[in-house]
Amino acid sequence: MDYLSLIQRPIQAELADFIALFQASLDHSDGLLAQALGHIRAKGGKRMRPMLILLMARNFGSVSSATQHAAVGLELLHTASLVHDDVVDESGERRGQASVNATYNNKVAVLVGDYILSTALLYVSRTHSEVIVRRLAELGRTLSDGEILQLSNIQNQQISEEAYYEIIKRKTAALFEACAAIGAESAGADGEAVAAAALFGQNLGVMFQIRDDIFDYYDNAEIGKPTGNDMAEGKLTLPVIHALNTTGDADMAALARKVKARTVTPDEIARLVAFTKAHGGIEYAERRMRDFHASCLRFIDERVGDAAIGEALRAYLDFVIERRS
Ligand code: IPE
Ligand code: IPE
Ligand code: MG
Ligand code: MG
Repeated sequence: MDYLSLIQRPIQAELADFIALFQASLDHSDGLLAQALGHIRAKGGKRMRPMLILLMARNFGSVSSATQHAAVGLELLHTASLVHDDVVDESGERRGQASVNATYNNKVAVLVGDYILSTALLYVSRTHSEVIVRRLAELGRTLSDGEILQLSNIQNQQISEEAYYEIIKRKTAALFEACAAIGAESAGADGEAVAAAALFGQNLGVMFQIRDDIFDYYDNAEIGKPTGNDMAEGKLTLPVIHALNTTGDADMAALARKVKARTVTPDEIARLVAFTKAHGGIEYAERRMRDFHASCLRFIDERVGDAAIGEALRAYLDFVIERRS
């Protein structure tokens, strides 16, 4: 069985309910807003975050109405953050179609992103759980904090793995962490179990972003969004950070400074990418993913009793590492 079927097997009915509730959340009757929401609704993502919430809820109990409303709220927050991310990154493609900013313009994308974010708050309020509402509010702050940290890090002349991890923990892993914790919480898990689930989500999220960053070093139409953008935007990610710091190559360090100064040319980016690949940067990032994978497996061994859920979570981890989009 393929990874997605294994992941979905214990949550099939719940995932169908989720998708219906999610699609309805983006319904709007008329005007430009309806058009833009329709554009977003036309291409669903991989649903990684809702699947995680549902699996965690099933692991610690069952999927309730609070679980579903939280799942819709979190997927909406994720959706809003992508709409805004494509404005910030000046990116023209998302999920294999033109991004909202490319289809309409930046103004529409900012406003529609805000509308979706507020819709997220509305759905999370329907959980009637103060704990879950607080987690979502804190999460929204952490995601923005991570994005701003990423922006200011471009000016930072120090090139370190610590700074890289700090950014991706906030901008990406925090969302997976919240999904795992809220899924567990909504099923009545105790504080210790929720904390263990949260750590699982964080490790998973870090792994997810490392994989996403590796994508950027390759041309691949399957991914459904542009690659080769990170360095053009001033961002140095784990593979190149490793190659730079282990070789101490002065010429490449000069190019890295040009990345940060936003004066690097496409040819120079190609040289940095080739240098990264020649010095094991990609393999290094893959080894780091394996470390996070091992921590995630420990959670499954210790905290997951049901065989089908264990199998689904293991398939989820493999999918995150091996995915092609
Ligand atoms: C994209 O996340 C944003 C990152 C954290 C890299 P996904 O790859 O899960 O996006 P969709 O929802 O499947 O499009
Ligand atoms: C991930 O950021 C998206 C968010 C955390 C909002 P990136 O800019 O690295 O991701 P992609 O490649 O555009 O999906
Ligand atoms: Mg971005
Ligand atoms: Mg982006």
